[in-house]
Amino acid sequence: DKGNHRHFMHKEIHEQPEVISHTLGNYIDFTNGKAKALELPWDFAKIDRLAISACGTAYLAGLIGKYWFERLARLPVDIDIASEFRYREMPLSKNSAALFVSQSGETADTLASLRYCRKEGVPIGVVVNVRESTMAREADVILPTLAGPEIGVASTKAFTCQLSVMAALAVRAGVARGHISPDEEQKLVKQLAEAPRLASQVVKLEEQIEKVSRDLAHHRDVLYLGRDTNFPLALEGALKLKELSYIHAEGYAAGELKHGPIALIDENMPVVVIAPYDRIFEKTVSNMQEVAARGGKIILITDKKGAEKSTVNTIDTIVLPDVPEIIAPILYALPVQMLAYFTAVFMGTDVDQPRNLAKSVTVE
Ligand code: BG6
Repeated sequence: DKGNHRHFMHKEIHEQPEVISHTLGNYIDFTNGKAKALELPWDFAKIDRLAISACGTAYLAGLIGKYWFERLARLPVDIDIASEFRYREMPLSKNSAALFVSQSGETADTLASLRYCRKEGVPIGVVVNVRESTMAREADVILPTLAGPEIGVASTKAFTCQLSVMAALAVRAGVARGHISPDEEQKLVKQLAEAPRLASQVVKLEEQIEKVSRDLAHHRDVLYLGRDTNFPLALEGALKLKELSYIHAEGYAAGELKHGPIALIDENMPVVVIAPYDRIFEKTVSNMQEVAARGGKIILITDKKGAEKSTVNTIDTIVLPDVPEIIAPILYALPVQMLAYFTAVFMGTDVDQPRNLAKSVTVE
């Protein structure tokens, strides 16, 4: 039931504050300010590598997870697209653990990767939305996302719930590995707890984002740029836009701009830049200058400080509330989803059921 919403995707975008809250509640003890000690088939203090693999949007959740695990827990992560992982025959050390991310728990390539790790004797966890799925049955531990049924083919709420699980798990890993002190844990948990409230504020930007989308819908190509955890979000923005609106889009790490995509920039090229004001903001500003100098149209997604400090002319600036760094990817995912959604609505495409795509891909 879509309720008052025009599409399931719209409904699912709006459900995010609530389902992020449910999901976090499973991994975080808010009262005591602690990441819950989960029963895992591995010991975060003893493993030396985590292999993450998944497909599509779930893969991008894993990619953001890599930044978190490496930064918060100093745990090296190998992240792979499942269809590559399964045939790559990656050597896995005895001290590895494997994590799979899947909304459906049925995606053929992810399942095959899971079975490869099983054969290699590596402990297996799955971040999964459908608890009765094959992956959930075959894993050693289920790390559920509590997003509820997701109907829109393009993942939205499952994605931000996957991110919520991964952020909480990275904090837990950081504590277990001695890189996060009890005080820092308290602080991080408090910041995680702010995600639902901030998400409901971000959803309210939709009127502005709808206007931006009206313009975007007139273009043939769109480039998305971001650094650090905003790089996977740039990939997600491009993925969402092409699958929903059929507009060609590419996501790049902003620092790669000058190594190729800059050749595409002219006055017909919109460039969506995802850049909250953080420690590398200035670096992204210089990439924006390179775009602006070639007449590219910049759509900047940032916060108040970022909007003030960016010295570049943009055609639109979407200003989010200030958010703690650890939850920024969860919140910046929302404007990216909304931009793709409204552009697709303007294009008149089948938003919930884009051509050639399936919700769950159980064949290779
Ligand atoms: C794709 C869907 O085909 O499968 C994506 O269109 C999804 O939205 C991907 O991210 C992976 O699916 P799952 O169920 O393994 O998360």
